Amino acid sequence: MLDFDYGDKKILLANLDGKIYASDRICTHADADLSTGILTEEGVTCPLHLSTFNLKTGVPENLPAETPLKIYNVKIEQNEIYIEVN
Ligand code: FES
Repeated sequence: MLDFDYGDKKILLANLDGKIYASDRICTHADADLSTGILTEEGVTCPLHLSTFNLKTGVPENLPAETPLKIYNVKIEQNEIYIEVN
């Protein structure tokens, strides 16, 4: 996982089995930084209360988080990663 900021957006970039996903980086439950969480084939697990977010849909797989993460479209061209943030 990588983290970066773009303007006021805090972005998480994750490589899940060779596919790149981009999402908001701050947990929708209580503002934990997901880049310090755990990446598994299920998604990213929040380090604070252990909700796991599906990185394809942003949907939390378990409580306490209930609100999905914002997911960004990713495009890779000539080894460059582009993220659609609008
Ligand atoms: S802060 Fe992420 S599950 Fe609570």
